[in-house]
Amino acid sequence: MKIFLDTANVETIRMYNEMGLVDGITTNPSLLSKEGGDPQKVMETIVDMIKGDVSLEVVSTEYEGMLEEGRRLRKFGDNVVVKCPMTPDGLRACKTLTAEGIPVNVTLVFSSNQAILAAKSGAKYLSPFIGRLDDIGQDGISLVKEIHDILRNYDFKTQILVASIRHPIHVVQAGKIGADVVTMPPAILGKMLKHKLTDIGLKNFLADWEKLKKENPRIRI
Ligand code: G3P
Repeated sequence: MKIFLDTANVETIRMYNEMGLVDGITTNPSLLSKEGGDPQKVMETIVDMIKGDVSLEVVSTEYEGMLEEGRRLRKFGDNVVVKCPMTPDGLRACKTLTAEGIPVNVTLVFSSNQAILAAKSGAKYLSPFIGRLDDIGQDGISLVKEIHDILRNYDFKTQILVASIRHPIHVVQAGKIGADVVTMPPAILGKMLKHKLTDIGLKNFLADWEKLKKENPRIRI
């Protein structure tokens, strides 16, 4: 399973990247706006820092505008994946950009029908937003399972990028299904790392070591 971070916070990306945990990044206009500053600089810094795919989203809603923005964004680096919305113009832009060798992540996918169409338009990734489905009383993770089953029946190369992750259980569920990628806010990755028994275990090991040191003052490892 590949782990992407769903953030535009450069410092957090750097921290988790140094632990070797970041296979890629997804951003969107909301995440960039949360960070403030010059969004182009932020995007370029992230693209330079990360070896894997970095999704940068177009803001135009028209085909021509999406192409223009997608081509411009791709100039930031060879690891840029252009994020296009799941709309008729978005799919058309996906097809054209893909034919030009620019990979596309089709975003805002909320049904298996949309997922089939995103895959048919040649998307490298399709992003079901599972948390937002949960928010309206639908089962986001079942959608991932259904999309996974459908894509497996055919020769699609499109990868499922599970987005709008709300908690670590979503990550485990996506892993059990075999989703290719999960993109998560850094806070979820932080929660995945932690377990209270790890903290208690470490505290006890260190306390016992201190005891040993008192009995053997010259001991060292
Ligand atoms: O990558 C998509 C993601 O940012 C959406 O998450 O929490 O705004 O539903 P959320």
